[in-house]
Amino acid sequence: MSVLGRAGETGAGRAEESPAAGRQAYATYLKPRLARMLAAFGLDLSFHRAEGDRLFTLDGGEEREVLDFIGGFGASLLGHNHPELIEVARRALDGRRPFNAQASIRGPAGLLARRLSERLQRITGRDYRATLASTGAEAVEAAIKHAELEMSLRNDRLLESLEERLRMLRLRLRDGRSFLPEGFLAAAAERLGVGRIATLEALLEHLRREAAEALGQEPRFLAVCGSFHGKSTGSLKLTYSRLYRHPWRRIGISTVFIPADDGEAVEREMERARVAFHTVAFEPDGRVELREQSLVNVSACFVEPIQGEGGIHELGPRLLEALRRAADEHGFPLVIDEIQSGMGRTGAFLALEAAGVRGDYYLLSKSLGGGLAKVSALLVDAARYRPDFGVLHTSTFAEDDYASLIALRVLEILERDNDALIRRCRETGAALLGRLRQLRARHPRQLREVRGRGLMIGVELEPQIMSPSPLLRVLSEQNLLSYLAAGYLLRVHGIRVAPTLSERATLRIEPSAYVGREECDRLLAALEDLLVRLEASDTRQLVSYLVAGRRSGPPPPAPAVERRPPPPRPVPSAAGEVPRVAFLAHFSEPADLHAWEPRLAGFDDADCERFLDRTRGLLQPFVLDEAEVRSLSGERARVTVIGVPFTPEQAMESMRQGADWSLDLVRQGVELARQLGSSVVGLGGHTSIVTDNCRRIVEDELTLTSGNSLTVAAAWEASRQAAVGLGLDLGACRLGIAGGAGNVGATLAELAAEEVGGIVLIGRPGAGRFLRPVAERLYRAALERLRQQPAAAEARGLAAALAASAGDLLPSLAADEAAGEILYRRLAAALGERAPVRIAHSMEALRDCQLVVSATNSARPVIGAEHVGDGPVVICDVAVPQDVDSAVQRERPRALVIRGGMVRAPLGQQVEMPAMRLDGGQLWGCLAETILLGFTRQQGHFSYGELTAANVRRIRALAAEHGFEIELKQD
Ligand code: F0G
Repeated sequence: MSVLGRAGETGAGRAEESPAAGRQAYATYLKPRLARMLAAFGLDLSFHRAEGDRLFTLDGGEEREVLDFIGGFGASLLGHNHPELIEVARRALDGRRPFNAQASIRGPAGLLARRLSERLQRITGRDYRATLASTGAEAVEAAIKHAELEMSLRNDRLLESLEERLRMLRLRLRDGRSFLPEGFLAAAAERLGVGRIATLEALLEHLRREAAEALGQEPRFLAVCGSFHGKSTGSLKLTYSRLYRHPWRRIGISTVFIPADDGEAVEREMERARVAFHTVAFEPDGRVELREQSLVNVSACFVEPIQGEGGIHELGPRLLEALRRAADEHGFPLVIDEIQSGMGRTGAFLALEAAGVRGDYYLLSKSLGGGLAKVSALLVDAARYRPDFGVLHTSTFAEDDYASLIALRVLEILERDNDALIRRCRETGAALLGRLRQLRARHPRQLREVRGRGLMIGVELEPQIMSPSPLLRVLSEQNLLSYLAAGYLLRVHGIRVAPTLSERATLRIEPSAYVGREECDRLLAALEDLLVRLEASDTRQLVSYLVAGRRSGPPPPAPAVERRPPPPRPVPSAAGEVPRVAFLAHFSEPADLHAWEPRLAGFDDADCERFLDRTRGLLQPFVLDEAEVRSLSGERARVTVIGVPFTPEQAMESMRQGADWSLDLVRQGVELARQLGSSVVGLGGHTSIVTDNCRRIVEDELTLTSGNSLTVAAAWEASRQAAVGLGLDLGACRLGIAGGAGNVGATLAELAAEEVGGIVLIGRPGAGRFLRPVAERLYRAALERLRQQPAAAEARGLAAALAASAGDLLPSLAADEAAGEILYRRLAAALGERAPVRIAHSMEALRDCQLVVSATNSARPVIGAEHVGDGPVVICDVAVPQDVDSAVQRERPRALVIRGGMVRAPLGQQVEMPAMRLDGGQLWGCLAETILLGFTRQQGHFSYGELTAANVRRIRALAAEHGFEIELKQD
């Protein structure tokens, strides 16, 4: 039996598994979050072949070519799979070159080190020693370590020379060449800031301790704001972006970032980093003196001459010169990170050459391996190289023959014909930059800036925050526009560019040195098309690649869209102004997306769903609508509707999976409300469901409400009115409540029980343990009402039904907790389905109800025609999205379906909220409650957690006072 088992036998086959399997595995086992982000903007292609500046994909069936302008973020200077390098690689493999030969003499690695040193020598006139590694970050780590090695050796030397001086002092005092002047110890104590020093030995001990403390301080490194030097724990500390660094803020070296445009900052930083201690000096007249010695505690300063990941920013000569001066004066090395900019990409072997400043250490990687090998190098000026370093710093995979031979050939290719390829980078780059600048001149409002040198180029998009397209505005505000642009260029034009995470508006363009005119033409044409569409706010075309693939033909023609200007941006209100309230809403159905972004009107339901699904969890909450509402009593409130970008289905899915992303979105929505100066935040629809009726948001400043008290009041009142209108006798009606265990359903049952004779609480199978307490509470309340109203003939609703069906049982019952339980049990046993309060687990139970209220969390309709009886029936749908299927109205002509929980704004106001898809004067009860709490300047949460009948009555009264009216809206 093979120990490898089946996997071993099929190993070769598995590696070749289909791209779909690879995609799935990548998204599951490797990078779930990244895979989602890529998918959100259509960047989730997989490539199976690459040559030169081209990548090839089979996604979508046929092989498709993509022009690669990302170029491995600068690593593909020689293009993908350069034939000469493949030959070198093949020879290395065919020749059975050893891969693992650590602790032996590695010829190719040695030759590579020499060649790199020689190349740098031609530029700087100095000699170098190399340390080889596999990745950029590793080379950075090596530089950190070498610099600190230099520093710690220097400090050791300083401590030793202090010891020497102290020994000398003793000798000189002994043989009389020196003497301690009068009051020497007292003066020394004062200078050192310590208490009394009694003896010379005690003084020496103080001096030793002071020096050890000064020289033992934590090392300090310098880097430039906007820098990127890698993501290993050391290099990460030299990387500027907070996004990358923050989670690891407690570990690693300490770095000070110098602003890129402030040469003076260098001097300031030197003073701040200064440490001092005292030593002794011998005066010619024999007196001994204390002397202060100071130095700057900076181990190294790292710079990228042209910042890459930071968004293609070239450092100015002033800063570089100031750093050079400081390095010379204070002795620390200036480390030049040319990992991305080096190897000729910018038109010179080193990007730093243009500045005419010298570094002490240089870092190379990326293109050094020609795109085939993982290799990096640290080159240290030979005058400061510490030979110990090569013994102390090692790595298993460094110095291998394979990578070294490839890197040697890369250098040879670059240097051939007097650096012809490097010249080519310079010339192609200059031409491309020129054309990009012309493009910018044609589209200044879409293209903010074109930056770079040679083939290291950044194209910064202008934010479209004033675009008439809401979606473009929101993507811009949330720094996602460049992702959309990258997806569009990839999917529509077959051009691969990418923004950087640190500077999201900038697309990096780093093709190979061989990139030709035709490829550049294609890039420029594609960019121009993108800019033209941004200018025209042609959102639909810009995003339709996201929903393409499932259509057979092209999308239907775009509807004409009026060029509505963007709504004014809400300005936080100051104290004493009109109170501001915020209401969190979400897209309940695809048509809501159309209402918000009319440019997507050509999208059908499936398109909208696909769009929302792709962007789920990436988009953050944003402002949907803004309006001012007045109350009957003269109060005013400004309402901001904040869109929380999830659908009910996604919210329920995230709850089922125990994932908190939907809850996090709601929290972000509340934060946005706070920033806008809102004092009350209403959590509409599923935003209250995912927060467990607000309870999962801990908030001590803002007033939170689910708004559901008024929803309940409005729903019951509308149902009641409709029933009376149909001539139904409430006392004889059976009320069915779908979602009877929920907050709205249970509270509504409590109110309705005062009037209706029977109630059926319906919940999902398994919801019995939640429905049962509701049922028991209903009985107990009815019993209490009976007790308070001894004349049974006057009893109404459930109390009357109870008197009729359980009259003999009642006298023996105390009106306590147990009474509800006993009544429920006894009546269920005796009367079965005819019990006044009943629990059911299927919508079938609605068939014999004359009144139905539905308030489930379901993302899909749950009440179909088959669940509704033939007789007259009022069905009040409180749920969003709706619970009642549209078939009910068609197939049950005697059913009156009303939209529950709606109210009318005071004073006949038309509240303009286009994205909410409400008739001008109508408001959701929960929205109206939020506004009401603004009018009344409510302090403390309101509909937070479980609803109470008392709050429902209170808010109903307030609504009346302020002029809101209950709406009877027929569907
Ligand atoms: N230094 C610079 C200037 C870099 O651009 C990078 C990587 C590194 C160091 C780290 O190299 O990834 O091999 O460890 N830059 C990539 C980028 C990731 O997106 O520009 P690594």
